[in-house]
Amino acid sequence: MKKPIGIFDSGIGGLTVAYAVKKLMPTQPIIYFGDTAHLPYGDKSATSLQVYTIKTIDFLIEQGCEIILIACNSASAAAYELAKEYAASRAKIFDVIEPTVKYVSQNFANQNLGLIGTRQTVNSQVYAQKIKEKNANITLKSLATPLLAPMIEHGFFNNQVSKSALNEYLSNPKIQDIDAIILGCTHYPLIKKEIDVFYQQKVSIIDASNIIAQEVKNFLVNNDLLNQKQEENVKDKFYVSDYTLSFESTTKIFFNQKINLELYKLWE
Ligand code: DGL
Repeated sequence: MKKPIGIFDSGIGGLTVAYAVKKLMPTQPIIYFGDTAHLPYGDKSATSLQVYTIKTIDFLIEQGCEIILIACNSASAAAYELAKEYAASRAKIFDVIEPTVKYVSQNFANQNLGLIGTRQTVNSQVYAQKIKEKNANITLKSLATPLLAPMIEHGFFNNQVSKSALNEYLSNPKIQDIDAIILGCTHYPLIKKEIDVFYQQKVSIIDASNIIAQEVKNFLVNNDLLNQKQEENVKDKFYVSDYTLSFESTTKIFFNQKINLELYKLWE
């Protein structure tokens, strides 16, 4: 049996990435951890996100994961470097920002890109720095859109509320005249269509979920870690650090199928 992939986020938003991972590698077991006790991550300090990340990584390693994917831009921005160093020989850590930056540098050179994400992600400037390092002559225009993740998490999308919020944010002078926009939060794939409507299909929407999943798959294939066939009796596991019925009912929207969420009190 190959080891499960550990995937975590502040809550259930990272399930959009977990879904892409399962779609690309259906035979690979996953263990998902949503730190719902600390939701939202986007408004937490970098230090808090580093503490949450390290403890979650320890938990996933204890569960047998040797590949761990930080399915959250905010935690990736604040804690990826630390996490890699911390897990070192015990687990290979992936984040969501590096594969996205690699992709945009290869596909959007010499263009103007927009970035929307949480305060933590945008204020950290990690996207801006990493894009600059690639020397692809990309101009990045960023805007923190802190209302969007909680809005989506509460089920407000494809409606008047999300339309107004998007109109307000996307009309901001800071992110005008762009050729493409990076969805810098793992919740945002759920409002991708609405963003596309706002831009009247004139701006490319960069949803990196599949790119990130492909990055993990490449690593598994190259290191002979990919399960070739479905193991019997091996089930994917989905844990949350705080449980409410609303999480249970919202998961289906993020993962396209009903999930059995288990409470794991990591913080008690
Ligand atoms: N999904 C997380 C991200 O990609 C953010 C949501 C939150 O603020 O908890 O940044």
